[in-house]
Amino acid sequence: MDKFRIRGGKPLRGKVEIGGAKNSALPCLAATLLTAETVTLHNVPYVKDLITQRRLLEDLGATVLTPELRTHKVTAGNIEVFEAPYELVKTMRASVLALGPLLGRFGQAKVSLPGGCAIGTRPIDLHLKAFEQLGASVSLESGDVVARAPNGRLVGAEIDFEKVTVTGTENVMMAAALAKGKTTIKNAAEEPEIEDLAELLNKMGARIKGAGTSVIEIEGVESLGGAQHTIIPDRIETGTFMVAAAITGGEIEIKSCRPDHLTAVIAKLREAGVEIEELNSSTLLVRRSAGGLKAKDVTTEPHPHFPTDMQAQYMALMTQAEGEANVVETIFENRFMHASELIRMGADISINGNTATVRGRSQLMGARIIASDLRASASLVLAALCAEGETIIDRVYHIDRGYETIVRKLGNLGADIERLTDGLAVGAE
Ligand code: UD1
Repeated sequence: MDKFRIRGGKPLRGKVEIGGAKNSALPCLAATLLTAETVTLHNVPYVKDLITQRRLLEDLGATVLTPELRTHKVTAGNIEVFEAPYELVKTMRASVLALGPLLGRFGQAKVSLPGGCAIGTRPIDLHLKAFEQLGASVSLESGDVVARAPNGRLVGAEIDFEKVTVTGTENVMMAAALAKGKTTIKNAAEEPEIEDLAELLNKMGARIKGAGTSVIEIEGVESLGGAQHTIIPDRIETGTFMVAAAITGGEIEIKSCRPDHLTAVIAKLREAGVEIEELNSSTLLVRRSAGGLKAKDVTTEPHPHFPTDMQAQYMALMTQAEGEANVVETIFENRFMHASELIRMGADISINGNTATVRGRSQLMGARIIASDLRASASLVLAALCAEGETIIDRVYHIDRGYETIVRKLGNLGADIERLTDGLAVGAE
């Protein structure tokens, strides 16, 4: 299993280019199943989750061409299988995003029920309830969710999500795009990735209004067609590099990003003593202020508030801030696994329910640590970059799921980081 070796203490300086958003590319690739025509997606990040999603499309019978590394041309003309197998779902929960489009276009879908994962139980009950409201019959058959639209086509309905769910909103949007009549989603997720998916679907001929707000209206159409679309920049990768600049005391110019998708993160980092200049609508210049970092509390909440996907990175930053910060996680029940590894590096963190209290500033020391999930791995990399001595991070396959060429990008900024495969250093990613 691959590991990272990081020798900390170097301020990161230079420019970094942000890739396409993983969490937007995943539903957009799933959306290609809604039409027999070719859909071309640009700026698809080259990360493991997208390779898995591509495999899922191919297993279902779609043809996926990549004329360029980050361009996917998908033609889902001959779909004969309507099933996302356990083998794929277990490695990537976002495979459940195949349910909505398959059910919408073919009136049937079977997806293995995702099991528990490192950051909590993560059920899909809200997706399934919404499909039932759209007229589908949903049953559980030996660990698989089997959904069928009685007459082959879903019927528009009013869906009021009792809890905000990102992939749930996406699944319903895709299913309802081809349903008969109008669907209204209330308490919809407002994440930028939802807006991006709606933009693609509308280019394909869907009639969706209100994406990006809490009420989305979808007027079902008979069929969808081909389209071209460029995926938005990854806001979590952007936020991670912002923390990298601040935690190492360096200065990073972050290019090809969307600061308007990071309003809450930018505001919180500024409060904590990070200087952030918006050089233009797609470029940020980030450095730690001369006064140093100050401890500031944070609570994760659905967009437009502070994202749970930045919680682990923010916790690492707070180990370097003066004072006591409470980090409250309200989205996932078990998302503090990075805390114990940070403590092993010398951080002072105590956990009480869904609140982690970080007392800083601590001089972190290199250690052998284990990555437990995608964003936790990012937090450990950040901690290692400012720690004294050498850190070995094991199980970095988690980080490969969502961060494109992270070793190269950090290396270009002056970090002393290398990937070890079976103990041996390997070259460029
Ligand atoms: C998405 C993101 C993930 C991010 C999360 C929250 C993708 C591929 N992943 O995950 O990176 O951390 O949003 O911003 O976009 N819930 C239920 N029942 C359901 C669905 C969700 O109880 O049917 C709960 C979840 O357990 C969680 C909360 O709702 O507590 C929010 O989850 P959700 O927004 O659905 O997360 P994902 O879409 O899985």
